[in-house]
Amino acid sequence: MLSRWKKTAVVLVAVLGVIYAADRINRPKQAHPVGIGTHETQFGEVSGLTAVLDRSCGECHSATTTSSWYIRVAPLSWIMARAARAGRVALDLSVWDTYSPERQHALLVASCRDAMNGRMPVSAYTRLRPEAQLSRQDVETICAASRQAVPHAVSSVDSQPPSAR
Ligand code: HEC
Repeated sequence: MLSRWKKTAVVLVAVLGVIYAADRINRPKQAHPVGIGTHETQFGEVSGLTAVLDRSCGECHSATTTSSWYIRVAPLSWIMARAARAGRVALDLSVWDTYSPERQHALLVASCRDAMNGRMPVSAYTRLRPEAQLSRQDVETICAASRQAVPHAVSSVDSQPPSAR
């Protein structure tokens, strides 16, 4: 007759074994580490913007892979992979340069709003990774970028001499 703790240990090992095996099978493909660090917004340089987005949003909103434990260890790795798939549909910082200035502007406005009301970054995530939390200053950095005018709209007005209207 196994003692109680031995039974518990056996069950625990079995559960971990199943999780480990499932993780081997389900492991998300490693994406290319494309950082947003090299990308600049088309809104001129708002200092620190890319650093803030990279740190707090990159794991769900870019193709960048990190070595964080929760990205490697099942079942959290599955949840994270799912969140990143959904997150990248909404906003993919890896392809930021391919977005039109209007789209970039709209995404920055949405990011400012979400950062202000604490919707982003997802709170369950910042519990795993406290350094992803946005400071007041970080939120202001995102919102400052969102307040910049869309370059195309500005330049089309600027480039027309008053006499041409
Ligand atoms: C843990 C993963 C995760 C992190 C970290 C994260 N997001 Fe998201 N984000 C998502 C997911 C999933 C969605 C799509 C579903 C939804 O809208 O809730 C999303 C949607 C969005 C959207 C589009 C929705 C809207 O409001 O229009 C914006 C903008 C956004 N995130 C901005 C950010 C910013 C800015 C950060 C960093 C400060 C961030 N996110 C961090 C997972 C994340």
